[in-house]
Amino acid sequence: MKAAVLHSTGSIDTLTENLRVEEVPKPVAGDDEVIVKVRYASLNHRDLWISLGQYAKIQLPVILGSDCAGIIYARGKNTGGIDELDSVVINPSLNWGNNELHQSNDYSILGMPDNGTFADFVKVKSSLVYRMPSHLSFAEASALPLAGLTAYRALFRKANVMSGENVLITGIGGGVATIAMQLAIAAGANVFVTSGSEKKISKAIDLGAKAGALYTDPEWWKQILSQSEKNIDVIIDGTGGNTMSALLEAVSYGGRIVLYGATLGRAENVNLYKVYWKQISLLGTTMGSSDDFSDMLRFVGERCITPVIDSAYDLEYIVTAFQRMQNMEQFGKIVLKI
Ligand SMILES: NC(=O)c1ccc[n+]([C@@H]2O[C@H](COP(=O)([O-])OP(=O)(O)OC[C@H]3O[C@@H](n4cnc5c(N)ncnc54)[C@H](OP(=O)(O)O)[C@@H]3O)[C@@H](O)[C@H]2O)c1
Repeated sequence: MKAAVLHSTGSIDTLTENLRVEEVPKPVAGDDEVIVKVRYASLNHRDLWISLGQYAKIQLPVILGSDCAGIIYARGKNTGGIDELDSVVINPSLNWGNNELHQSNDYSILGMPDNGTFADFVKVKSSLVYRMPSHLSFAEASALPLAGLTAYRALFRKANVMSGENVLITGIGGGVATIAMQLAIAAGANVFVTSGSEKKISKAIDLGAKAGALYTDPEWWKQILSQSEKNIDVIIDGTGGNTMSALLEAVSYGGRIVLYGATLGRAENVNLYKVYWKQISLLGTTMGSSDDFSDMLRFVGERCITPVIDSAYDLEYIVTAFQRMQNMEQFGKIVLKI
């Protein structure tokens, strides 16, 4: 079968040598496993971090990719509840464990160290496979799993966002941010956004966001406060770095800030006095449990939410797709046609 295999890590300029589409053996299902014929897969920033060597415990070579939508191609003898040719998505959270509060020590994410979805076929435990929401195409469904899971847990398990609350989502062009906005709007929240691009703010407003500010203005949070009548109940942020200081300014007294990533790295010179004086809840989140995943799929199905596809590339053009993500050109998810 055809697969995008990462052989070594390095800068984005060396990706063409490091990440190669090649022929590899097709996986064989164990007793409690299924083989999914991948139709579409989608990129996450994680795939880029791994390719650049900026991720913990990298094991190579590996077929990258945490997300896909496809059909059941083959299944082991102990797999029930799902039939061959069913259209499915995969929960990329492997070995979450029994504690809803956090993942287990055996936790990993599909697509490193286990081979992932940027291939004709992927092998996973049958318990990780879920029927695709019926209103979605394969491309749309492939955009959902990792970003949808992260966004759902951040909004509803961690921040407990309620209808009518004001929610700020930073870096709205990002894959997690875009689906978080869609989920929050569907739940009745008023969504405000930041972005590096006016065009992306306009697109977010077209999708139902109330307003937005350019984060290139160091005092962007002042604009968000005037747009939201000085009331930001919840912030969902995957940016980290020095954005943190602005988040502490933007959030209201008693507000909740959920952190799911730190694209910009460590936060320096954070004014901790603000955290306790404003009675702010700082909440960390990572991926989600199987309950989170099935609840997210149900929510998306009931509200007919369609993830935003930024662009689609054939697998052969995977390096171009990565370059688009590296340059932050996307609004929503970049998908790969397999
Ligand atoms: N903990 C978890 O379970 C989990 C899950 C998923 C992702 N993550 C992490 O979360 C981050 C985002 O992931 P992703 O896949 O959504 O990435 P992505 O699609 O590549 O999005 C990254 C976005 O970051 C935004 N950004 C860049 N600089 C910014 C700044 N100064 N202020 C605000 N936003 C800024 C940009 O938004 P604009 O395009 O609007 O300018 C960009 O589109 C990554 O660090 C990833 O590793 C963690």
